[in-house]
Amino acid sequence: MNILVAGGAGYIGSHTCVALLQSGHSVVVADNFSNSSHETIVAVQHLTGRKLTFYEADVTDAAAVESIFLQHRFDGVIHFAGFKAVGESVEKPLAYYRNNVLSTVVLTEACRRHGVSRFVFSSSATVYGDNRSPLLETLPLLPTTNPYGETKVISERILTDVAKTDSSFAVALLRYFNPVGAHESGLLGEKPKGTPNNLMPYIVQVARGQRDCLPVFGGDYPTVDGTGVRDYIHVMDLAEGHIAALSSLKAGVHVVNLGTGKGTSVLQLVKAFEAVNGVRVPYEVVGRRPGDLAECYAGVGKAERDLGWTAKRSLAEMCRDSWRAERSL
Ligand code: WQD
Repeated sequence: MNILVAGGAGYIGSHTCVALLQSGHSVVVADNFSNSSHETIVAVQHLTGRKLTFYEADVTDAAAVESIFLQHRFDGVIHFAGFKAVGESVEKPLAYYRNNVLSTVVLTEACRRHGVSRFVFSSSATVYGDNRSPLLETLPLLPTTNPYGETKVISERILTDVAKTDSSFAVALLRYFNPVGAHESGLLGEKPKGTPNNLMPYIVQVARGQRDCLPVFGGDYPTVDGTGVRDYIHVMDLAEGHIAALSSLKAGVHVVNLGTGKGTSVLQLVKAFEAVNGVRVPYEVVGRRPGDLAECYAGVGKAERDLGWTAKRSLAEMCRDSWRAERSL
């Protein structure tokens, strides 16, 4: 299939481009480099040995998107092009609503105009709000604690409502848990600008001496060791989940969790990272981070039943691949 990957130069987008190219699909990427760089496009082509077509474009720009759709016949769109920092979304709500919601509207309008019926959307476990884990796709969504999460809820609703008007529209709403790790080549990876919002990139920066100490946000949660529990999933497993979703996508709206179904605490991840990589990660338990949940992990039965997909890579591989990418990027 010929797939438009919006945000394909980003962390998850670039890994999904690798999986798409290696599965024999052809890929067109549109990305404005707001949170990525062109060298990622070069790396994707280098490690797959395949070419992709690339446009530096903002997918909230309807004219730019129309121009791309006029030059290609797409069999599907995968939409990764969104801002994703929870804390930043609280400080800059308008930027998040404009970018994350308008991009979904613009891409969906283009699909309708050009008869593209497959749409895969990069959603997030954040939409579950403070529902109790394991989180199942059938749960009613609860208010999230931040504009970022609300933009994901709104985008899911837009796609669901559009699908009600056209029985041929086939939508996958993929709810990611905590993506970590990197392609085993070490050529791709998370390259957060400034202070990392997420745990794994912070651990990596402490391990390499770029930061003195990892702040552990809260040691008094009702969890195995008092620290926050999350469902960490290797980004290549996540990427392969997109290929599975695309290949099996039928008309209608299909909500699927992409996680491992296993919860890991902050301290368990720190210990695993130290053991796998033979490094030290000094940490200090500090106050809870506002908006954080105690536990968040996926129910994974639907992904297995509907997509024939399960996450395969271990926590050790996630830690090893995160560390390798950091050292080579
Ligand atoms: C994980 C755990 C923190 C940093 C967010 C978004 C989610 C998705 C992934 C985009 C928590 C603890 C963290 C640190 C810490 N983003 N932590 N010290 O908050 O589960 O999910 O990122 O799609 O939508 O909500 O991920 O990596 O920020 O935190 O102790 O320096 O690590 O408290 O328990 P989170 P995270």
